[in-house]
Amino acid sequence: MNKTLKIIFWVILCFILIQLIPVDKENLPVKKSENFTDVQKTPENITSLLRNACYDCHSNETKYPGYAYIAPFSWSVKSHINEGREHLNFSVWSTYNDDLKKGMLEKSVQTIENKTMPMPAYIIYHNEANLTDAEKTLLKNYFQEILNSRSY
Ligand code: HEC
Repeated sequence: MNKTLKIIFWVILCFILIQLIPVDKENLPVKKSENFTDVQKTPENITSLLRNACYDCHSNETKYPGYAYIAPFSWSVKSHINEGREHLNFSVWSTYNDDLKKGMLEKSVQTIENKTMPMPAYIIYHNEANLTDAEKTLLKNYFQEILNSRSY
C-alpha cells in the first residue's frame, strides 16, 4: 500500500471507530408544573417561537437533527445542548429562584437583541429558528412583560 492509501485507510477506520462512542440523546421527562410555557401559560404563537428557536438547547425536549447521529458532529451538538441546558433549562423553570429567573429573562432579551441567540451556527441548519425581526420583537416583548410585571 502506498502512503496516501495508508493515510486514507486510517482516516476511514478512525471515522468508523468514533461512531461507536455512545452519545446520550435521551431526554429527561418534563413536568408540566416546571416547564416555562406551561407555568407561564404562554400564548401558542410565542410557545412555537420558543420551541422552534430555543427549546432544542434550552429544554429537556431536544429534537435531534440527522447530523447529530454522526460523530464528530454529534459531539459538538451534544456539548452545545449540555452547555445550553446548564445555563438555562426552560423545562425546569419553576425550580429556579426569582433572581435566576429575572437574570435569565434579561439575558434572553439581550442575547436575542445582539443576535447571539439562537446560536448563529444553529440557524444555518434550522430555518424555523431564523426568526424574523417581527418574531424577535414578539419574543423579547413577551420576556420583557414578564419582567415588568415580576410574574416570573
Ligand atoms: C444550538 C443551541 C442553542 C440554541 C438554539 C439557543 N441557545 Fe442559548 N445558549 C446556548 C449555549 C451553548 C449557551 C452557553 C454558552 C453561551 O453563553 O454562549 C447558551 C446561553 C444562553 C443564555 C445564558 C447567557 C448567559 O450569559 O448566561 C441565555 C439567556 C440564552 N442562551 C437564551 C437563548 C434563547 C432565548 C434562545 C432562543 C431564542 C436560545 N438561547 C437558543 C445554546 C443555544
